[in-house]
Amino acid sequence: MSDAWRIIEEELSKPSLFKSRESLMPEHLPDKLPHREEELRTLVSYFKHLVHDPGSISQRVLIIGGIGTGKTVLSKLFGKLFTRMARERGYNVSYAHVNCHRNRTLYNIIYDIARQTGIPLPSRGLSAKEMFDVLLSYLEELDQYIIVALDEFHYFASLSHSESVYFLARTYEAYEGSKRVNFIFIASDTSKLAFLDPATEGYLLRHIIKLEPYTSIQLYDILKYRASLAFFDGVYDDDVLKTIADYEGVDKGGSGNARHALEVLLLAGDLAEREGSKRISVEHVRRALSGLSREIVAISDFIKYSSLHELLLLLAIIRLLRRTGKREVRMGEVEEEYRGICEHYGEIPRKHTQLYEYVQSLARAGVIIAHPSGKGQRGRSTMISMHYGPLDQLEKYVVEVIEKRREIGS
Ligand SMILES: Nc1ncnc2c1ncn2[C@@H]1O[C@H](COP(=O)(O)OP(=O)(O)OP(=O)(O)O)[C@@H](O)[C@H]1O
Ligand SMILES: [Mg+2]
Repeated sequence: MSDAWRIIEEELSKPSLFKSRESLMPEHLPDKLPHREEELRTLVSYFKHLVHDPGSISQRVLIIGGIGTGKTVLSKLFGKLFTRMARERGYNVSYAHVNCHRNRTLYNIIYDIARQTGIPLPSRGLSAKEMFDVLLSYLEELDQYIIVALDEFHYFASLSHSESVYFLARTYEAYEGSKRVNFIFIASDTSKLAFLDPATEGYLLRHIIKLEPYTSIQLYDILKYRASLAFFDGVYDDDVLKTIADYEGVDKGGSGNARHALEVLLLAGDLAEREGSKRISVEHVRRALSGLSREIVAISDFIKYSSLHELLLLLAIIRLLRRTGKREVRMGEVEEEYRGICEHYGEIPRKHTQLYEYVQSLARAGVIIAHPSGKGQRGRSTMISMHYGPLDQLEKYVVEVIEKRREIGS
């Protein structure tokens, strides 16, 4: 049996800590939302007319709350369950969740609503408003009602002409026929919407559901529920969950962000699994916490697939930028730093052409920025800078990866 074959077989037969890793991912839509029951109830009460007296009003509700307070997941879960229940009672209600960050024009938003609700709109030749009219007549013909959630609504409101915002938010008010379109607007806070004209703002702010940042006790319940979906029994204990909940809880000085809490749990699970450990320890959580600044999450994918010398070169760049405090450094200086680091680790330094290749690939991945030095500098050189930070955390992270890489000898 070849070595490679054996390695693959060994890796595949390792028991996993995860029963369902996906259920910790941001896209996962859980079946219940601990500590958002009241808000769910309120949301239902606002849309009751859809099963009691459909067409009587066009409802619009604004959900606001900070990052990771569950705005998106609350709206999606409501949409999924409410439409199912309405259908069971014989009402044709559907839900469309439109991300205004992705769909930045009125045209794209309306097109996306139609796509999600299965309404065939001609893809060309119509203006946004004409498309909306076609959408309305389809709804009429099919006797269908829709709830449209406009997530990250403040993006749309800040980018689009006020006319488009007005159109989406208010035009329908004057519509004569049966009112078939209902809105949920989602934004991070009302101050982001403050530039709207007072009438539109008043219109939007009539029904508000405000999601407060989570406390540590609430986060503990959320983590406990999501961990039970994701991991096998005995993989985690209360201490692990409490450490994360206390770090993130708003009452303990954290930001009350459930997304970050779940990311930490996922990373701690990954770290434990990679180490071949059978359980997640508090130490894994600490490491996950220290390693999980948003920037590191962003570049860790790249780091996973880079070679040892690429990482040594990245370390040289980080150290040099840190030590000199300069905005950018020259390739020549970086190479010198790199040779020092190689010496420290007992590695044979790679040649200039190879290092230049590494710089290009780091730049392509967006980890660093590299450009030729301009005129007025002595000789031509490549200048290197980095947006990411803080650099000390990044340095620690890269050193950790390098050391692990050297242990396994790859
Ligand atoms: N009460 C809850 N129960 C279970 N999971 C939750 C709860 N609240 C939030 N989550 C989870 O936390 C993560 C973040 O939630 P969500 O994406 O809804 O936040 P958000 O308020 O929309 O944040 P952002 O402002 O960044 O868009 C998701 O994975 C979501 O499933
Ligand atoms: Mg969201």
